[in-house]
Amino acid sequence: MVKLLEKIGKKMKNNLDEKTYKVAVLASGTGSNLQVLIDGADIYEIALVITDQPDVMARERAERAGIAAYEILPRNFSSKVAYEAEVVARLQEADVDLVVLAGYMRIVGETLLASYEGAIINLHPSLLPAFQGLDAQGQALAAGVKITGATMHFVDAGLDTGPIIMQEAVSVDYADDITSLIGKIQKVEHKIIRETVRLLAQGRVVQHGRLVEILD
Ligand code: GRF
Repeated sequence: MVKLLEKIGKKMKNNLDEKTYKVAVLASGTGSNLQVLIDGADIYEIALVITDQPDVMARERAERAGIAAYEILPRNFSSKVAYEAEVVARLQEADVDLVVLAGYMRIVGETLLASYEGAIINLHPSLLPAFQGLDAQGQALAAGVKITGATMHFVDAGLDTGPIIMQEAVSVDYADDITSLIGKIQKVEHKIIRETVRLLAQGRVVQHGRLVEILD
């Protein structure tokens, strides 16, 4: 009996010691990628969601899932530094390991970057370095490329310039328009965003300067 109690006690202690990998998601809109991360949470936990636009669906999705959600509106702050200081305060309070930008339509400034460099990742709807910035799908159509896709990358001070972690291609057909192409890319986004977060949670992503190694 004593042995059994000892065993149970040890198991409980191990569980307490084991820290779940905590992820924060920053989003500006619909949050379909956030939903994929929420639904697929296994070896990681979505600890916190921050939205920077009023009443967006991403926030609703977080609240529905019982996840702490903060609407932090830049217009309520005197500067970008002050806005990001508030974001950092919430991230630190929740003790997050990773910050995922999933449809976060804002350039990360020095305040957020300084606190989380190497631990912020972004999702972009093109095969970077092609078609950086806004309307990447429209840019791809206008350029007439036959292949585009989605990219997960670490965030640095540039616009969509950080080290690439994972990419997946989609074909662009003559019949594609902006709606169909957004749909095709969204499908692969939903796949690579979760895969990337899981690899990071497993400690299998190693950065060597601009090159990123995925360990087996
Ligand atoms: C995605 O296409 C992402 O690549 C881009 O914004 C979109 C967000 O979609 N940066 P959702 O809000 O996750 O549905």
